[in-house]
Order: sequence, then structure tokens, then C-alpha cells
Amino acid sequence: MSNRDESFLRKRAEEYGQSQLFDFWPQLNTAQQQELLHHLAQVNFPEMARLIHSLVLEDPPVEYFQTMNPVALVKGDDSRRVEAMEAGESLLREGKVACFTVAGGQGTRLGFDGPKGSYPIGPITGHSLFQYHAEKIRGLQRYYNTTLPWYIMVSAANGEATRIFFEDNNCFSLDPENILFFEQRMVPSVTAEGKIILETPSRLAMSPGGHGGCVQALVDGGAIADAKKRGIEILSYFQVDNWAIKVADPRFIGHHYLNQAEMSSKCHRRNGPREAVGVHCLCDGAYRVIEYSELDIYPQLLQVDEEGFAVFAAGNSGIHLLNTDFVQRVYEHFDEFPWHKAFKKIPTVNQEGQTILPQAPNGYKFETFIFDALRFAKNPVALEIQRLGEYTPIKDYDGVNSVVAARKSMTEYWGGWAKAAGLVLSEAADETERYSLEISPAWAVNEEEFIERAASLSSDFHPDSAILADGRIVTARGEDACQSD
Ligand code: UD1
Repeated sequence: MSNRDESFLRKRAEEYGQSQLFDFWPQLNTAQQQELLHHLAQVNFPEMARLIHSLVLEDPPVEYFQTMNPVALVKGDDSRRVEAMEAGESLLREGKVACFTVAGGQGTRLGFDGPKGSYPIGPITGHSLFQYHAEKIRGLQRYYNTTLPWYIMVSAANGEATRIFFEDNNCFSLDPENILFFEQRMVPSVTAEGKIILETPSRLAMSPGGHGGCVQALVDGGAIADAKKRGIEILSYFQVDNWAIKVADPRFIGHHYLNQAEMSSKCHRRNGPREAVGVHCLCDGAYRVIEYSELDIYPQLLQVDEEGFAVFAAGNSGIHLLNTDFVQRVYEHFDEFPWHKAFKKIPTVNQEGQTILPQAPNGYKFETFIFDALRFAKNPVALEIQRLGEYTPIKDYDGVNSVVAARKSMTEYWGGWAKAAGLVLSEAADETERYSLEISPAWAVNEEEFIERAASLSSDFHPDSAILADGRIVTARGEDACQSD
């Protein structure tokens, strides 16, 4: 009897109190029965039982700490800045670093129909978030004469669409041999009584199990083996929705390396005690990130100083470095990894077998978060960053952390490069709401390189124009304005 057999899976579901999963079995045709068995074979019933008991049927105990302290932030003017930069650049040249993007989330808040990374973020070029990340990698490969493999975690919810998007765009001129996609696991959702929910008579309600699932996916999907084969020691982790991300930043890599850290983070200063970001702190001496949804449990984290700034300053920007050996070790102890639950609206079948989208939350999703791995890491570094040019998360179209805010921020950032290069942005130079700029990171990896290359531009870099990877300038109307020399 194989673990795909009806009798085996029926017995297993019964054993774990989930026999409702077979409620519609007699009405299903053969293909639907196979679909249901296929989904059931992927369920880790013992793990689900553990999550249901510890998080849903019982209220998980609140963790209280004797002491909570802010983490020490490594500042931009740190005395080891130059040494760190040199160490990071050497590691890049030696091919010890790979990029790693988590792109398995559903991006429901943005209301965009497609993988979030395919969102056309460039206001002038319409280039996607994936294209920008790819051009950053191309730029660094050229600048450091190296190869940066790119590992991309997707999920069953968006994996196929993501792969097709890359194929349709010729992998953004990256060598496909250096790109590896792999899927994270999907986790079933349950009712408040702990029953796994059916979304259709033949399909379970499943969702991606949070970006912490990358630990399992990196190993099971072959990325860690690939990295080891290539001699890669450090993964530059970033979230697909951060347009500004400095991928594989040598200074960050250098501080991480000099501190012999296993996992490190970039943190921005929280703009107030209620900003919707995780807070990096030391709880009874151990490194933790407390998610913003849990702030009321720990009122210490809401403290402000005399000037109104958050005392616990370090906000989680979702930018990390992870050693490949560390990922392997956390993988081997993943049953100790903490899980979180979220009460959500989950599509569910009614008695007639029709799918209903409830008006109010009706069940729990389970997730793990990568920042929880920091508690297992030796010597984590928290490097302070400015938001400008590093952090523009895109959660909505307008408002805080939005497409509109990100475009304004990047125009301001690139406008600073243009000014430093002595280019005159004639109109409205300081009114970034009124115009846009784009500079391909494949053409200039940083401000220093931009200044060098700007001399070769044969025409003005006007507001509302973009410099492409090959140095051509296009205008907002999509026309070629001029060629660089
Ligand atoms: C996240 C962080 C928050 C941080 C903020 C910074 C969590 C739980 N919280 O918030 O502490 O301050 O970013 O911007 O992450 N993803 C997957 N698989 C999943 C779920 C998510 O790959 O199963 C990816 C998404 O594609 C995205 C990233 O993880 O790239 C962030 O997920 P999102 O749900 O947007 O996190 P936030 O709640 O915004």
C-alpha cells in the first residue's frame, strides 16, 4: 500500500481526527479523487497535529522576559567601515556569495494579479521588480568580475507564473544556469476547532507557510547543495518587494564576515513605536525579533526618548545574510523552529460543495518567519541603514510602503546621484512628486560608478527619463532620447 492510496490516507486522516476531508469522496469523479489524494499525500499530519494543539486548541503561552534591551546597531561611520568594505569585496570577487530572494508570498494587499516580482515598478520603463533585481546582479557581476548565482523561492501559488515570466523575459540577460527556482511548502489552514479546511470538495485550503519555510526549501530544493558545489558560503537574502535593496552589499557582507556571524540583518530606525515592522532586540540576552502584531504584549518596545524616537530603534527591514552551513544546521533542527498563527478569511466549501469566501475570518493559517532563525545564530550583526536607497517595501499601491512612495523615494535617491555628477536636472529638481528618474543598476552599480560614467552621456539626463542597462536614455514617452558614447 503506497502513501498515495485512498485506504492509507483515509486511515491517516481518521487517526489525526481529520476524516471530514473525505466528506465529498463519493461525489468525486476519478480525476478529483486523484487530486484530493495528491494533496493529502503532502500533508505532514504529525506536524499539523502539533500546530493545532499548541497554537489553536490551546492558547500558546506568552513568553515573558526578565530583561529586554535594544540591540547594538553597527553605524554607517563604524571604525571598521573600510576594512569591512574590503573584506566584502574580496568575498564577492572570490565567488563566495549568492543572492537569495523570497518571492513565495501571495501579495494580496497590492491587488496585483501576478507574482509580486513581475509588478512593473519602473515609472518610465515599466521594468519589473525582478528585472531590477536581475540588473543589480548583472551590474555586480561586471563590477567585481564574478558570478552571483540567484536562488529564488516561489510557492505553488505563483511558481509557474514566475518561471514563465523569467522565460518570457530571457531571464533578463542572466545565464539561466545561475538561476535556481524552488518551491516552498504549502501548509493547510484549519478551523477554530482544529479541522483542516476544504477549499473545494477535492482540494485543501493551503497557503505558503511563511518565509521561514525557506530553510527547508533551500535544502530540499537543492540550493544549498548547489551553493556548496560552487564554494558559496553566504546568501544575501532579500524580499522581492523591496525595490531599493542593495543586493550582496559588500559593506554588509564584510561586517558579517569580520564578526564571524552566522546570520546578520540590516535595520532601519523605526519612525515611531508603532511602525508596522518587526523590532530587533535582546530578550534575556538572546537575539529576537518581535513582530509588530505582538507589540502590545511587550510595552517596553513602545518606549520613546525625550525627542519622541523609539528607544528600541532597530526596525526589521527583511534584509539578511545567512551562512549556508547555518541554514543546513537550522534545517536539521527545524522541529524547534517557532510557528505563528494568523486568523484569516479562508475560502471554504459549504455542505453543497460550493466554495464560499467568508465575510469575516473563519480559520487559521500557520507560518514561520526567517528572522526567528536569528535566535539560533552566533554573533549576529545588526547594521544600521538609511531608508533612502536601501528600503522601499511595496505593500500597497498608495500610502505608506507603496508603489507611489517607492517611486518618489527612488527618484530622490537617483536625483542625488545626478546632482553629485554635476548633471542639471533643469525642471522641478527638488519636487520629486512631479517627475521620475530611473537608472539601471546594470549600468551603474553605485553613485561612484555613476559619476564616472555620467561623463560619457552625450545628452542631458532630463527629469522623466531613464538610463537603461546599455546606457541609452529613454523618456517618459518611451522614446529614445539619445545614446551614450
Ligand atoms: C515583513 C516582516 C516585518 C518587516 C517587513 C519589512 C514578516 C512576517 N514580517 O512584513 O517584520 O518589518 O516585512 O518590509 O515577514 N514570503 C514568502 N513566502 C511566504 C510569505 C512571504 O516568500 O510564505 C515573502 C513575500 O513574497 C515577501 C516577503 O516574504 O517578499 C515579506 O512578506 P510579507 O507578507 O509582505 O511581510 P510583511 O507583513 O510585509
